[in-house]
Amino acid sequence: MAVETTLVLIKPDGVRRGLAGEVIARIERKGLRIVGMKLLRMSSELSDRHYAAHVQKGFYPELKAFMTGGPVIAIAARGENAIAHWRNLMGATNPANAAPGSLRGDFCTTVTENVVHGSDSAESAATELALWFAPSEIVE
Ligand code: RTP
Ligand code: MG
Repeated sequence: MAVETTLVLIKPDGVRRGLAGEVIARIERKGLRIVGMKLLRMSSELSDRHYAAHVQKGFYPELKAFMTGGPVIAIAARGENAIAHWRNLMGATNPANAAPGSLRGDFCTTVTENVVHGSDSAESAATELALWFAPSEIVE
């Protein structure tokens, strides 16, 4: 077991629909600890860097327009196996495959506007946290 920190994003649809409290409550009740949090608009440059693995894919223009189209809430969440625990709480990428009880299973119907993001590995968590948070914005 390892203490990990993962990047959670409440995507523009989640913020717009008033689901921030629901998402934050699930982080907290799972027992993960919030060590960073802010509301901001994702810039074009940040989108290209955050989604570097997807920029060449056909769905990227739609994803970028969505992600830069409204404010997001970025959260650094820490705990034992935080990366896998948060992926489980989010549910599958496509909400058609997301289990009831998961955020995507309960709160969305489309693959693009799927409420939340979570880092998918220790390597991507480290890269993403450095993109979204300055060291001084992580508060123990
Ligand atoms: P995320 O990065 O947001 O946590 O989601 P994920 O790991 O479950 O999915 P990923 O494959 O990394 O895709 C990133 C986001 O791109 C959008 N997407 N659209 N139209 C499509 O085929 C498609 N595929 C992915 C989703 O918003 C997905 O969360
Ligand atoms: Mg991903």
